[in-house]
Amino acid sequence: MLKYTELVLDHFKNPRNLGKIENADAEATEGSIACGDMMTVYLKVEDDRITDIKFESYGCAANIATASMMTEVVKGLTLEEAKKLNWKEIVERLGGLPQVKYHCSNLAVDTLRKAIKEYEESLARK
Ligand code: FES
Ligand code: FES
Repeated sequence: MLKYTELVLDHFKNPRNLGKIENADAEATEGSIACGDMMTVYLKVEDDRITDIKFESYGCAANIATASMMTEVVKGLTLEEAKKLNWKEIVERLGGLPQVKYHCSNLAVDTLRKAIKEYEESLARK
């Protein structure tokens, strides 16, 4: 049995910012090479700042928990600040994660970065 911290279990059972944003400014779906799971991130952006973020996960408990924590951390950050977030910071905030589950937090951060990239590319097309 994998051992999760209380905080990981709390974010898994009560995910923050779970769902979809209608009329999102950007969205991206990313898959994990390690396990084949997928998740989607939706962003609302104003003046280069993330004003709203939601996610859907087709992944495991660790992915749901890390995605939930990731959305709490990046809401209100500028795009540049959000790009710098890395998976270790999320894992630390959750009080740790079993090592075999690190890739699940990678998936959360990779999907965020892809959504930011989508947003920037949509601006470039305007
Ligand atoms: Fe798919 Fe974890 S391996 S949910
Ligand atoms: Fe696939 Fe966690 S095992 S996201």
